[in-house]
Amino acid sequence: MKLLIPGGAGYVGSHMAKYAQNQGHDVVVMDDFSTGHEWAVRDYEVLRVNLLDQEMLARSLKGRQFDGVIHFAAKSLVSESVKKPDLYYRNNVVGTLNLVHELLRNDINDLVFSSTAAIFGNPVTNSIAEEHSKLPINPYGQSKLMAENILRDICSAYSFNATCLRYFNAAGADQSETIGEAHEPETHLIPNILKSVLPDGNKLKVFGTDYDTYDGTCVRDYVHVTDLAQAHLLALEHMNNNSGFSAYNLGNGKGFSVADVIKACEKVTGTCIQFAVEGRRTGDPAVLVADSQLAFNQLGWRPQYDSLDAIVRSAWRWHQRGSR
Ligand code: UFG
Repeated sequence: MKLLIPGGAGYVGSHMAKYAQNQGHDVVVMDDFSTGHEWAVRDYEVLRVNLLDQEMLARSLKGRQFDGVIHFAAKSLVSESVKKPDLYYRNNVVGTLNLVHELLRNDINDLVFSSTAAIFGNPVTNSIAEEHSKLPINPYGQSKLMAENILRDICSAYSFNATCLRYFNAAGADQSETIGEAHEPETHLIPNILKSVLPDGNKLKVFGTDYDTYDGTCVRDYVHVTDLAQAHLLALEHMNNNSGFSAYNLGNGKGFSVADVIKACEKVTGTCIQFAVEGRRTGDPAVLVADSQLAFNQLGWRPQYDSLDAIVRSAWRWHQRGSR
């Protein structure tokens, strides 16, 4: 398939591009490089486009055909979204609307949308299935839910198909060790732990030890980024025989606390990890664990990295190689 990947220079997007190319697909990345990395996309044709620049977007897509679009281009930091909600609504909602507008104009009709567990807000069940109530507690989650709802309406109105994939905690790095998680600033737990043991690393901060969980720290469902990439291709294939709108939750279905993750990192790195306990971070729910049964049953999704140690090991191999 010929695939367009907006946001393909970012963390999950670059793993998607690599996975798709390894599977024999023809990849074109679209990115504005506001947070993505040039070094992550050297192997693909790149369209340098910001989705808010409708004219440039129109020019870059005019006359081009793609069998599918996998859309990652978005702002994705919960804490930043609380401080700058307008930035999130503009990028994540207006950007998606602009993209869909051009796709419809060019008769490109299959889209996989990068969504998030943040659309659910505070969970009311132990694990979160697709029909769980959707009450986001931060503008990031709100912006992704708005984009999902827009896509649902577009699918009802036009001959357009969209699948939303809601990731729980994406983690790990590609086995080639050439790409991995590199946000600036880095806010995610696993890279922050691993970076703390490298030379010049900052001491790890643990945000909150007074949550209503088995050890007081937040519990999350970590899922390998290459396993997420696999789900996107399966979603595109599934669209061949299933039209309209659909959505799936993607996680391993097992929760690990921040303290568990620190222990796993100690085991993998062979280091005793020092940390400082800080107050809770705004917008963090206590527990987020996925029920991914629907993706297993309907998409045939089979995550390969089913242990936290394996996920952390892949991230550690990449972090040890230093920044690109
Ligand atoms: N944490 C720390 N120290 C750090 C970084 C994180 O203690 O340096 C804690 C957080 O407070 C949280 C847990 O580790 O309890 C995981 O935090 P991450 O930043 O790694 O990931 P999040 O759970 O915040 O993010 C995930 C998804 C988002 C989604 C969000 C919803 O990556 O897409 O859950 O809350 F929006």
